[in-house]
Amino acid sequence: MSGLFITVEGPEGAGKTTILQRLAESLANEEERDIVLTREPGGIPISEQIRDIILDKKNVEMDAWTEALLYTAARRQHFVEKILPALDRGAIVLCDRFIDSSLAYQGYARELGIDEIYRMNQFAIQDMMPDLTLYFDISPELGLQRIEKHRGREQNRLDMETLAFHHKVRTGYQLLLEKFPNRIFRIDASEPIDIVYEKVKQKIAMFIKNSCS
Ligand code: TMP
Repeated sequence: MSGLFITVEGPEGAGKTTILQRLAESLANEEERDIVLTREPGGIPISEQIRDIILDKKNVEMDAWTEALLYTAARRQHFVEKILPALDRGAIVLCDRFIDSSLAYQGYARELGIDEIYRMNQFAIQDMMPDLTLYFDISPELGLQRIEKHRGREQNRLDMETLAFHHKVRTGYQLLLEKFPNRIFRIDASEPIDIVYEKVKQKIAMFIKNSCS
C-alpha cells in the first residue's frame, strides 16, 4: 500500500465539502500523484443508493442499529471498490467522512456505544484506519446557521435532528480526539472559510511532505 488516506470529519455546516473541493483542485495541480476526492455515505453507485435510503426524510421509523448497519454496508462497498484500489495505485485519497462519523453519530449520539460501532466497522474496513483525519470543530448553533444561509444544500433526515443531538455529536468527536490523538487533528472551523482553507492546506502539505521523506 503506497497511497495516503486522509479523511475530513465534523458536523453539518462546518465547510468540509467546499474546502475539500478547493483542496483537491489545488493538490491536483501541485502533486504528481493521483488525487481521489470522494465521500461517505456514497462515492460509488451502490453506496449512493444506500445513502438515499438512509437520508430519505420519509424513513422516520428507521431503527438506530439498522442505520448503523447501512452506513457500514455503504462504507464496505465504497472501501473495496474505490478507496483500496486508489491507495494501491499510490493515490492520495481525500474522503469527506469515514468511520469517525459512525463512531460520533451512531456510537455516541445515538448511544449505541463507540466500541460496539468500532467493532462492527472493523471487518468492513479490514482494520484500516485513515493515515490522517482533520476534524472541523464548530458549535452546532453556528453550523446550523450556516446551513440556513446556504439553502442550496439538500435537506435530509439527519437535518431533522434536534440541537441536543448535534451537541452530542460534538461531544462524541471530542472523545474521539482523545482516543486517537496521533491520527485526528482539530481544525477551528468557526473562522472565515478562507482562513480555515489555508490552515487545512498547510497541515495536509506538511503531512504529505513528511510521509514522503
Ligand atoms: P453529509 O451531509 O455530510 O454528506 O452526511 C450525511 C449525514 O450522514 C450527516 O448528517 C452525517 C451522517 N453520517 C452518520 O450519521 N454516520 C456515518 O457513518 C456517516 C458517514 C454519516
